[in-house]
Amino acid sequence: MKLLWAVGALLLSCWRANASTAPNIVTEPSEVTNQTSAVLSCNLTSTLPVTGSYWIHNGKVIETSRSQKDDPYTRLHLDKITYSSSGKYECVFLTEPPVKQTIEVKTLPHVSAYKHSEHGNEKDNGVMVCASHGYPPPTAWSWFKEEDGTQKSIINGTGDKYEIKSTPNKTTLTINDLSIQNDIGYYICSGTNDLGTSSDKIHLRVRSRLAALWPFLGIVAEVIILVTIIFIYEKRRKPDDISDDDDSGSAPLKSNSTNHKDKNVRQRNSN
Ligand SMILES: *[C@@H]1O[C@H](CO)[C@@H](O)[C@H](O)[C@H]1NC(C)=O
Ligand SMILES: *[C@@H]1O[C@H](CO)[C@@H](O)[C@H](O)[C@H]1NC(C)=O
Ligand SMILES: *[C@@H]1O[C@H](CO)[C@@H](O)[C@H](O)[C@H]1NC(C)=O
Repeated sequence: MKLLWAVGALLLSCWRANASTAPNIVTEPSEVTNQTSAVLSCNLTSTLPVTGSYWIHNGKVIETSRSQKDDPYTRLHLDKITYSSSGKYECVFLTEPPVKQTIEVKTLPHVSAYKHSEHGNEKDNGVMVCASHGYPPPTAWSWFKEEDGTQKSIINGTGDKYEIKSTPNKTTLTINDLSIQNDIGYYICSGTNDLGTSSDKIHLRVRSRLAALWPFLGIVAEVIILVTIIFIYEKRRKPDDISDDDDSGSAPLKSNSTNHKDKNVRQRNSN
């Protein structure tokens, strides 16, 4: 029973916190498409008492837009509209209950590859991913392969070779059974919404299965060569070492110093 009350209270508070969309807010413009800047405005046409207003972008409150004035009117300046500032803008008036209205700011999709260079091993799968940022998300995705300067459309499922999976924000192209002869090259992903199309390019490399072993073989070869060199060096050095250290090392130094001393003695004597 207590739980039921808690859930009830929670639902009630959610309902009260959410401003309801009001027909008595006039927006200007009703939506923004493909502009580099804009001024969004909302005008509350009913005579409800207002204690303030603010704006929301894609569900997040724009703190700098908060106002405590009792104006039934609010504006938001968008100086430079890019894909990241596109989306749903809502003006909220603090009335009892709060009311809000939405203005959509639409831009071209902004399509970008997760990685601009991908590689796979021969006979494995190659996977390439592109995502779109911006609002509205693409309604259609397509993939192309660059061949002799032209773009050849890739059709989902052709001969079990290509598989395309798309959600509104993301598309994935999987190429099965990679071949060095046919699959190396540039691939283009392209997303389209009602304002237009944006695309990005990915370079796919395919390595032979043997090539994957090369770095390992290289290290093994390096170790073998090093060990051989050290072994030969040690073997050749051993017999010379003993004679070097005992004879030529200290003997001449000694005789030099004695000669020098003798000279000094003689000089002093003559003086
Ligand atoms: C808001 O709307 C009212 C009623 O349509 C209009 O009289 C008023 O001029 C508008 N205010 C602004 C600032 O546009
Ligand atoms: C898709 O992009 C839109 C706009 O950027 C965003 O609001 C939404 O959360 C994204 N959806 C997913 C599933 O990532
Ligand atoms: C491509 O085909 C696969 C398997 O038939 C399917 O699951 C997938 O949804 C298709 N993708 C698109 C973009 O139609």
